[in-house]
Amino acid sequence: CGIVGVTGNENAVAMLMEGLRRLEYRGYDSAGIYVNDQSGQDYLVKEKGRVADLAKAIDSKVHGSTGIAHTRWATHGQPSIANAHPQVSADGRFYLVHNGVIENYRELTETYLQDVTLASETDTEVVVQLIARFVEHDHITTLEAFRKVLYLIGDSAYGFLLMDREQPDTLYVAKNKSPLLVGVGDDFNVVCSDAIAMLKYTHDFIEMQDGEIMILTPGNVDIEDEEGNHIAREPFHLDMDASEADKGTYPHYMLKEIDDQPAVMRKIVQTYFNEDGEPQIDGALLTDLKAADRLYIVAAGTSWHAGLVGAKLFERLAHVSAEAFVASEFAYDTPMLSEHPFFIFLSQSGETADSREVLTQIKAAGYHSLTLTNVQNSTLSREATYTMALEAGPEIAVASTKAYTAQIAVEAVIAKVLGETLGQDAARDFDLANQLGLVANGIQALVDQKEVFEEIAKNNFVDQRDAFYIGRGIDYALSLEASLKLKEITYIHSEGVAAGELKHGPIALIEAGTPVIGVITQAKTAGLTRSNLAETAARGSHIMTIVSKSLANAHDDIVLEDIDELLSPLLAIIPAQLISYYTSLLKGLDVDKPRNLAKSVTVQ
Ligand code: G6P
Repeated sequence: CGIVGVTGNENAVAMLMEGLRRLEYRGYDSAGIYVNDQSGQDYLVKEKGRVADLAKAIDSKVHGSTGIAHTRWATHGQPSIANAHPQVSADGRFYLVHNGVIENYRELTETYLQDVTLASETDTEVVVQLIARFVEHDHITTLEAFRKVLYLIGDSAYGFLLMDREQPDTLYVAKNKSPLLVGVGDDFNVVCSDAIAMLKYTHDFIEMQDGEIMILTPGNVDIEDEEGNHIAREPFHLDMDASEADKGTYPHYMLKEIDDQPAVMRKIVQTYFNEDGEPQIDGALLTDLKAADRLYIVAAGTSWHAGLVGAKLFERLAHVSAEAFVASEFAYDTPMLSEHPFFIFLSQSGETADSREVLTQIKAAGYHSLTLTNVQNSTLSREATYTMALEAGPEIAVASTKAYTAQIAVEAVIAKVLGETLGQDAARDFDLANQLGLVANGIQALVDQKEVFEEIAKNNFVDQRDAFYIGRGIDYALSLEASLKLKEITYIHSEGVAAGELKHGPIALIEAGTPVIGVITQAKTAGLTRSNLAETAARGSHIMTIVSKSLANAHDDIVLEDIDELLSPLLAIIPAQLISYYTSLLKGLDVDKPRNLAKSVTVQ
């Protein structure tokens, strides 16, 4: 979910709505806003669906200078107006927006709220009802009641913005394991899940730590720790242009982000290579990496797929054992660790709760870690021992594209430096700067022929129920990501299959016309994958190929420029991204905001 709050600005409604639009990537099941004009007028508007639906429901009389707003990714309770935030206490005095999950809300309801009829199915309502209950029954202040409730909900994940009608210019803010930043303006203050939401209004932000409470009034930001001690903290200046997060003339963010990829590859070369074309990484990080006997890459979704490729880069270039793990699995089914493990977290957002859980655990065990992320100052980047930037620029479309290619490129940088330091010939002979230049050109050549992929989408995908990507080794890792792109935004059932495994089960799913796309970029297995494709064709499939030039023949469908085999996913993913994009578009679906998903998932 995305949350935003403003205090002390006559434009609060416009600011909150702008914030919600910017935060919509975090969820879009419902949206809501509460504003108070400081002279007794206040307004609560909630709507099922998108932020645009909420905007339509807000009429011109809704105004105020202090308020809170929310865009929801449903966890407890289906998307509906009753379950939308802000949630309100029964007496109509307290208003609350929440990102996260309160694990013990049922117990709390039984203990304290037996006599209250709840208006929603949300865990959030329980919190706001509790605050009202404690203020009324225990005769304590709003701040004291807020603190008491935070104590009762323990270690649950939350970001909260609370308003009290009787102090209409005050925002009470708290967070645990969920991102929140306070932004400082001239005579107004704001708070938001992601700086992008408020960049139009301020570039000065104050970090918030877990367990703290902040009390915001128009001219003041008061920070208190768990015991109520006051804390002084200076704002930092965020040097980022709000327009970086715009899609300009593109019809969708996803298309813009696909097109950004050549520039991202060049930016990575600029950032991580010196004038002699040698890649550089932090010295202390390199020392830690050198001491590791095994690299554990931990991530979710597309980032995990980038990790699968990264593990191969580390093994082949640096000869260090490496494996990529799904974060939500690793956290509760931890594999046996080697004697000197080192952890690499991959996360576009830097906020994924599943990955953060693992980071918390391995930190407690005393291990060091590196986070590769696209969001500076994000939770995972702050909490790991080291952090490196993906330099991809804001990624807004829910389906990740440029973060995937950026992650692989930065992993290659690290693998090359580590391998060279360890005296590995494979790393020394790998001209990565030159290769990334070839990759940039190769991507450009692909995005310049969009009509080819639009045609393939139209003729071969739009009407299909199932589709398969198959490959071996690195091509298998790529197939998993290609298939995820397709299912995320087209809702076509799709699987990435290890080509040799098809015959052991999945081939039973092949019917007349089922698309099977063979990914063929590895010389060693090209022939085998072609045979596996033929086996599906013999059973009626419609086969297509994505092939590197040096391995291609006259019958191949999509031919990629030749680059080093280790980096082939950087090119092979582009056709899959574009085919998914056009299929989604032709099916009339919402490309950037596919159903049921959110871009940044801060719950486990
Ligand atoms: C969500 C998104 C995916 C993303 C995954 C991991 O599920 O919908 O696109 O790959 O989270 O996100 P991260 O920010 O950690 O890379």
